[in-house]
Amino acid sequence: MAGYAVEAMYLIASFLFILGLKGLSHPEKARRGILYAEIGMLLAVIGTLLNKEIVSFEWIVTGLFVGSAIGAAMAIFMPMTAMPQRIALSHAFGALAAALVGIAEYYQHLPNVSPGMMGALSAEVLLGGLTFTGSLMAFIKLQELMTGVPITYKGQNVSNISLFVLAVGIGTYMVFNPSHEALFIGLFVLSLVLGFLFILPIGGADMPTVISLLNSYAGLAGAATGFVLSNNVLIIAGALDGASGFLLSVIMCKAMNRSFTNVVFGAFGQISPPPAEGTPQKVAVRSGSPEDAAQVFKASKSVVVVPGYGMAVAQAQHAVQELASLVEKNGTTVKYAVHPVAGRMPGHMNVLLVEANVPYDKLIDMDDINPEFETTDVSLVIGANDVVNPAAKTDPSSPIYGMPILDVEKSKTVIVLKRSMNPGFAGIENELFTRPNTLMVFGDAKATLQKISDALKTSVHE
Ligand code: TAP
Repeated sequence: MAGYAVEAMYLIASFLFILGLKGLSHPEKARRGILYAEIGMLLAVIGTLLNKEIVSFEWIVTGLFVGSAIGAAMAIFMPMTAMPQRIALSHAFGALAAALVGIAEYYQHLPNVSPGMMGALSAEVLLGGLTFTGSLMAFIKLQELMTGVPITYKGQNVSNISLFVLAVGIGTYMVFNPSHEALFIGLFVLSLVLGFLFILPIGGADMPTVISLLNSYAGLAGAATGFVLSNNVLIIAGALDGASGFLLSVIMCKAMNRSFTNVVFGAFGQISPPPAEGTPQKVAVRSGSPEDAAQVFKASKSVVVVPGYGMAVAQAQHAVQELASLVEKNGTTVKYAVHPVAGRMPGHMNVLLVEANVPYDKLIDMDDINPEFETTDVSLVIGANDVVNPAAKTDPSSPIYGMPILDVEKSKTVIVLKRSMNPGFAGIENELFTRPNTLMVFGDAKATLQKISDALKTSVHE
């Protein structure tokens, strides 16, 4: 009877996971989706705790408390800008758990490991091990504990692929000769080395795509664990994780107009040499003060806010919301244009703007907002760079050529808030900043937005 109850709980949990994923496809339903997934996870945990094979709860309860304390601290104290590396850490621990369960199960079943079980164990240990070190490396790069610049050397891709083929070869050999303990441990060590080597040539800013791919591997390792333990919810949740992580990385690559292999093997994000000293500035930049920007807003009837990674760095979401409210009081319409890869993780801008209470219906996707720029008075670009770079449309030699961008240059005036003329993620110049209809306002985005709001308030009272 208990067995049926557990299986029923697992089934409901799996259903809730699917509903959770579906909810994440729209910002309005995302919170509810997360709630469904949380309830699903609770049911899965309770179902697992009802397992009759559990002999003692001491270690489980200790683990629950220690893990919950670490998880809660990470959720409370890690800032939103550090979300990609936080996710990388979670994947690392999940994958390590899968690999350790695999090793424990191997020794528990020796010498009677069936070929089917050995296949699952090999996959679990290989994917778990490489996801563990790969995710740790992603964390280290994103946290800037080491350089985020791709580290490359001659023959790197060939040697990495050869080592991976060797690991798959060992795993396959083990299926037919499961009693080779030393080889099994060798497979685990090799997978740890592989995770480290695979991430070395990948630039820090490509990490979100890679993290999503590692997420997919962690899911597959979890599904393999499910086969080993004959646990249905692990198989289903692992498969969902594996498929959704993979699809998300494909969607990100598509939105950046980059191939999957370019992200994984292309060492994108190398630093281009700075211009030689004395190189004259090609075109003058028109820069102004926050007060100048305030005057432009006063005279405008329509504003489109274009947030980018710099808004996240400056944590300027509340300041932009305040400015928008002021401008709206003046009878001006304000919308927000959200590029699919603005920032550094999927949904980055949505999360920040919704946190600042910007209504969902004002967040407009790229394809819907692009036809509107032509009739927009002011595009306010906040710390965005690559996603508004016209070179993506006009310069076939540009590394971002072909990437769909927000057509801000078509609006009457473009106001750009950033600290300097430094490039963004792709490391390339942006000709938008030198266009005659562009006004650059240099400084930290949050401070500049507050100054523009102050200037608007003062002018209202005058
Ligand atoms: P970026 O092109 O990276 O540009 C961000 C700009 O923000 C920089 O030029 C920087 O200029 C400015 N900035 C930084 N801190 C600032 C601050 N405190 N105040 C004001 N400005 C600040 O950003 P984007 O336009 O959002 O493009 C995202 C890029 O990341 C794309 O190339 C995309 O392909 C890539 N990417 C995205 C994702 C996802 S899923 N979103 C995943 C992987 C890669 P200053 O230094 O001059 O201030």
